[in-house]
Amino acid sequence: MTLKSKVALIAGGTGGLGRAVSQLFLDEGARVIVTYRRDQEFEQLKGMAGVNASRLSGSNVDVTDEAAVQKFIDGIVKENGRLDFLVNAVGGYAGGVKLWEMDAGLLDQMLKLNLLSGYVLCRAAVPVMLKQGSGAIVNIASKAAVDHAAGAAAYVASKAAAVAMMDSLAADLKGSGVRVNSILPSIIDTETNRKAMPGADFAKWPKPEDIARVILFVCSDHAHVLHGAAIPVYGDS
Ligand SMILES: NC(=O)c1ccc[n+]([C@@H]2O[C@H](COP(=O)([O-])OP(=O)(O)OC[C@H]3O[C@@H](n4cnc5c(N)ncnc54)[C@H](OP(=O)(O)O)[C@@H]3O)[C@@H](O)[C@H]2O)c1
Repeated sequence: MTLKSKVALIAGGTGGLGRAVSQLFLDEGARVIVTYRRDQEFEQLKGMAGVNASRLSGSNVDVTDEAAVQKFIDGIVKENGRLDFLVNAVGGYAGGVKLWEMDAGLLDQMLKLNLLSGYVLCRAAVPVMLKQGSGAIVNIASKAAVDHAAGAAAYVASKAAAVAMMDSLAADLKGSGVRVNSILPSIIDTETNRKAMPGADFAKWPKPEDIARVILFVCSDHAHVLHGAAIPVYGDS
């Protein structure tokens, strides 16, 4: 148990990747607080946590709502006295359509999910970590942030902007003891992806658990030299 007495906020912690991160951080002894949108998903995570469920709590919070997130993080600090890790696993994909054929609102939607989420969460979490003089933030971006495929202009732009934002935040936080990094997955082996691409070779896709282990490492003190990195986790896919 490497994270005993640590407090971790996993935004989107009941999602395809977030669930694996939440479980691993619980296994490592952390107190884990997740955001979720569907009660059923949180109950499912609690069931999967087993004996660790006593260290798991959650809240139905829209992480793009600045006032709601501030209140939520104030509550975490009031209850636990600290916040050691923020992992932002909220995000979404839309693609398969050329830029000029996309719905007019799609860019806003992608920016909200993939950029504003991290912005709002960091604005509330960073002051807490600065006060502590320690903390680690991991924002889940995408391979698409650096590999700009066709048919995904809005998604690609939102993920590239998220990486740039974390890079700038890392510069803001130089010497503070608070570290910030981005993770760049390609297609992950989630239930949603299996349903969307039933003909694909699932064995080639990195598992959520494999990526969760990288996130755990990035948060751990072993990674104290990692700051402002954008880490590819594609495996050989
Ligand atoms: N899966 C992949 O192949 C893949 C590849 C590259 C990058 N990524 C990135 O990895 C991250 C995790 O992906 P994933 O596959 O785990 O996605 P996911 O299963 O959709 O999980 C994301 C979670 O965030 C929640 N969420 C969405 N909007 C929210 C909001 N405004 N406030 C609070 N929660 C919100 C979602 O709830 P709802 O389900 O109700 O919307 C969902 O529970 C995302 O940033 C994604 O872009 C994923």
